Amino acid sequence: MLLTEIDHVAIAVRDLEAAIDYYHRAFGAEVEHREVVESDGVEEALLKVAESYVQLLTPTRDDSPVAKAIEKRGEGLHHIGYRVADCGKALESMIAAGAQPIDKAPRPGSRGTTVAFIHPKGSFGTLIELVQE
Ligand code: CO
Repeated sequence: MLLTEIDHVAIAVRDLEAAIDYYHRAFGAEVEHREVVESDGVEEALLKVAESYVQLLTPTRDDSPVAKAIEKRGEGLHHIGYRVADCGKALESMIAAGAQPIDKAPRPGSRGTTVAFIHPKGSFGTLIELVQE
């Protein structure tokens, strides 16, 4: 079994401050990490839940994939991050199983992780991110 944890559940939102405030009022959640990932055109806030995170994501520019997703489907669940010990190995295994990679090779993600995204087509409609810490 290559998955070691649900790393994060990513939720696309239009207003990051409003979403953080809502999670704080509803659950007492605090932001553990916040980062702008310029290459992906997103700003994220991570709320820790046990060994996993809720990742609130907002676009930083109109042409970012998250902006397009919100435009197309509105706010809501965007992708799931599966934690793995070896991103390259997990990516290879997924491709062998018929997955369509968005990233052909592992690349840097937020908070110093190594990540690879896999297209929802071929993965039962779910955008998957492999996350190696
Ligand atoms: Co993610």
